[in-house]
Amino acid sequence: MENNITLFVEHPDGTKTPLEAPTDMNLSLMEFLKGNDYNILATCGGMALCATCHVSVTKGFETLTPISDDEYAMLDTLPNITDTSRLSCQIKLNSEIDGLTVKLMGDGN
Ligand code: FES
Repeated sequence: MENNITLFVEHPDGTKTPLEAPTDMNLSLMEFLKGNDYNILATCGGMALCATCHVSVTKGFETLTPISDDEYAMLDTLPNITDTSRLSCQIKLNSEIDGLTVKLMGDGN
């Protein structure tokens, strides 16, 4: 559909699951993944304070809006931070990020 994009979740074995995501509902990636039954605790409710929504972006990192100081400060506390780590609650679904691919890195994954 016109207002949909395709996102991919990359699994530890390298396989990827495509997901059709709406861009007209003002959802964050965290909210979308939770809605698709991915195991993201999101204990802070999307305030960049818990890091349980941590993802590592394996494709499309350059399409994301720049990381904020608050987001970076939270990511920097994590033992498994990568060069392309983001908090999925800080990523808004929009047409720019079509094809984005992420690995889930938070608690429970
Ligand atoms: S939901 Fe807590 S940091 Fe993203």
